[in-house]
Amino acid sequence: MSETDQNNTASLKIDGKTYELSLLEGTEGDKSIDIRNLLRDTGYTVFDTGYKNSASCSSTITYLDGGQGILRYRGYAIEDLAEKCLFIEVAYLLLHNKLPNREELEAFRVMLEQQALIHEDMIHFFDNFPPNASPMSILSSMVTSLHNFYPEMSGDPLENIDLTATRLISKIRTIAAFSFKKSIGQPLVYPRNDLSYCGNFLNMMFDTPVRPYIVLPEVVAALNKLLILHADHEQNCSTSAVRLVGSAGGNLYASISAGINALWGPLHGGANEAVIEMLEAIHADNNDYKKYIAKAKDKNDPFRLSGFGHRVYKTYDPRGEIIKAACDGILDVLNVKDPLLEIARNLEDIVLTDDYFVSRHLYPNIDFYSGIIYRALGIPTNMFTVMFALGRLPGWIAQWREMREDQDTKICRPRQIYVGAPARKFVPLCERL
Ligand code: SDX
Repeated sequence: MSETDQNNTASLKIDGKTYELSLLEGTEGDKSIDIRNLLRDTGYTVFDTGYKNSASCSSTITYLDGGQGILRYRGYAIEDLAEKCLFIEVAYLLLHNKLPNREELEAFRVMLEQQALIHEDMIHFFDNFPPNASPMSILSSMVTSLHNFYPEMSGDPLENIDLTATRLISKIRTIAAFSFKKSIGQPLVYPRNDLSYCGNFLNMMFDTPVRPYIVLPEVVAALNKLLILHADHEQNCSTSAVRLVGSAGGNLYASISAGINALWGPLHGGANEAVIEMLEAIHADNNDYKKYIAKAKDKNDPFRLSGFGHRVYKTYDPRGEIIKAACDGILDVLNVKDPLLEIARNLEDIVLTDDYFVSRHLYPNIDFYSGIIYRALGIPTNMFTVMFALGRLPGWIAQWREMREDQDTKICRPRQIYVGAPARKFVPLCERL
C-alpha cells in the first residue's frame, strides 16, 4: 500500500478548519482515504453502517474487482486455480504466498494425513448433541474445543501456526463427517491415509460397513473445485469476524469458531442452504416464479432471492459462473437429474431481464448453484454451510496470520453515535411510579 504523492490529498473542511488527509493506493489501484488520525485531529468519527465504505486493513491475500468480476488469490486468477489445482495446493498458496513445488506439496499432504484423527475423547462430545443439532453449531463448538486438546496456541501463536493450520484444515473434515454420521445414526468412518484430502472426506461421509463407498475421481474433482472457489474472499463478514476476535489476542481456534458462527447467517454462507429451500418452495408452488420475484421486490416482505446480490460484485460472481458451468458435467457423470437445476436457470433468466434486479446489480453469487452440486454429491442441505466453512478455512487462517503479523494491527473497537437518553437523575426504587 502506498501513499500517493504529497500534493494529492483529500481536503476536509470542518468548522472553518481544513484538514489534509493522505490518499492510499493498492497494487491494482484501489484507493482509500487515510483516516487513522481523524478522531484525534478533528474530534469526528466517520459513520458507516455495515462498513460499506471502509477498508479495515491492507492485505496481500485476495484481490476482488467487483465491477469486472475479478477474483485472485495471491495474484493468481480463480479460473486457473479452480481448473488446474488441488484444494490443498490452494490452501498452501493462501497460507504461504506461493504455489507449492512437488516436495512442499508432498510434505503438506503428509502433515494433513498425520492430523486427520481427532482425540478419541472428543468423539464422546457427539453423543451429547441432539440428533437434529445444527452441523454448524457442532462445528463451531468442536473447533473451539480443539484448544483444550491442543493448547500450543497459548504460547506465541505464530510459533506453531503451520502445525495448528494443518491440524485445523485436516480435522475439520473429520469433525464434519462425524457429525453427519452421528446425525443419521451410522457408525463413524475413520480417516484413511491412502485417500486424497477430498476423497478422505467423501469416504468418511458416505462409506458404511455394509456398502463400501466408491471414491469416484469426478466427484473428488468436483469437491476440489468447490472448496477452491470458497477458499478466501478478502474482508467478508466471517473473515472480518476471525480478524476481529484475533485482534483481541484470541487464539486461532476461538477466532475460527467466530468465523464459523458469522458464516452461518443466511445473508452470508447460510445462503447456500437458503437457495435450495427457495428453489424447493418454487417447485412446490408449481414453479410460480412470478410470486417469488414479487415477494423479493416487496419492501414490506423480508423475503430476498437467496443466491443473488453481493456487497462487492456488481456483475456476475466469477465463482458462480464456474460452478454453473460445472453443474451439467457433474450431474451427467453421476446420472443425476435435479429439477431444481432447471428452476434455478429459469429463475436466473427471469431475474437478469428484470429491471428491478438489473438496476441494483443483483446477479447470482457463489451460493446460487453450489447447492445443486452438493446435492448431486449426496451432501445433505443442512451441511452446505459446513462445506462452505471447509473451503474457507485456509483463507480464514491466512487472514488471521496476516492480521497478527501486521505491525499496524490494533484491537478492533469501532465507535458509535450515541442517540439514547441524555443524563438523568437517579430515582430510588421506592420513588419509582
Ligand atoms: C456470500 O462478502 C462476501 O464476499 C461474501 C461471500 C464470500 O465469499 O465470503 O461472497 C459469500 O455471503 C455471498 C452472499 C450470499 N447471500 C445471499 O445470497 C443472500 C441474498 N443477498 C442479499 O441479502 C444481499 O444481496 C447481500 C446481503 C448479499 C448484500 O447486501 P448489501 O450489499 O447490504 O446490499 P443491500 O441489502 O443494501 O441491497 C441493495 C438493494 C436493496 O434494495 P433498495 O433498498 O435499493 O431498494 O438491493 C436489494 C435490497 O433490497 N437486494 C435484493 C437482494 N439483494 C439486495 N433484493 C432482492 N433479493 C436480493 N437477494
